[in-house]
Amino acid sequence: MSLFEIKNCKKNFNGIKVLDDINIKVNEGEVVAIIGSSGSGKTTLLRICTFLEYMDCGEMSYLNEKIVTSEDGIARYIGQKELSIDALNKNKELVRIKSYFGLVFQNFNLFPHWTVLKNVMDAPISVQKKDINEVKEKAIYYLKKMGLEHKTNSYPCELSGGQQQRVAIARALCLEPKIIYFDEPTSALDPELTSEILKVIKELASEKRTMVIVTHEMNFARDVADRVVFMDNGVVVEEGKAYDLITNPQKERTKRFLQKYD
Ligand SMILES: Nc1ncnc2c1ncn2[C@@H]1O[C@H](COP(=O)(O)OP(=O)(O)OP(=O)(O)O)[C@@H](O)[C@H]1O
Ligand SMILES: [Mg+2]
Repeated sequence: MSLFEIKNCKKNFNGIKVLDDINIKVNEGEVVAIIGSSGSGKTTLLRICTFLEYMDCGEMSYLNEKIVTSEDGIARYIGQKELSIDALNKNKELVRIKSYFGLVFQNFNLFPHWTVLKNVMDAPISVQKKDINEVKEKAIYYLKKMGLEHKTNSYPCELSGGQQQRVAIARALCLEPKIIYFDEPTSALDPELTSEILKVIKELASEKRTMVIVTHEMNFARDVADRVVFMDNGVVVEEGKAYDLITNPQKERTKRFLQKYD
């Protein structure tokens, strides 16, 4: 089943093309890695997928339900033209669709003045309106899964980067999303903490969780992802089975990019 699909997505910033005709489909249980050099549009794409940014033109669906259409060449979110992110986030239908996904950022983005437990519990209660006791039980379950049960009452500043990122992953899991997006989840971490987080994500992949991961870790992409998408300059240059694309890229541009990681 298709969980997510984006078609013909275009995005300009101040007249400069940042995404040009992006097409990506993610099926249930699939892990898709997005790779590409700095400025190729990976973060912008994830921000569009998660309603933190709007697209200019294109189509987007979650669970085959169309969220964005562009019959007249202008993106319309749930049928209406809404070009402010605030307006998008107040739209009840979009809030419902938002519960389909979780997002893990490069810099963890935890609230510094909240405990670990409150960071994990907040969105399911305030956005998804779930029962507080039920959420607490789940939050503790996911923190335990991340090996952080002893840190529930700590503040983010009292944790290592790797621990903070594991809190951010527990926070995403506590939303019980159908799909989790990761934007370079290890690039703020040293090699040891990087492998700690990659191990956690690998475990989530073995549970058949659907994930889209922007990463510079090519070995991880090769071993853990089902599919890899290589972006350059706002376009998808090449996509294919993870092992094939990483070990035997077809396009010159992909070869040049991957050579830097040899
Ligand atoms: N809010 C914005 N306003 C103007 N330009 C932007 C904005 N966000 C991104 N850009 C531009 O869009 C392009 C793509 O940026 P993006 O952050 O999506 O790249 P990226 O592939 O995630 O890069 P990196 O690997 O460095 O994270 C860049 O040229 C960037 O300067
Ligand atoms: Mg980025």
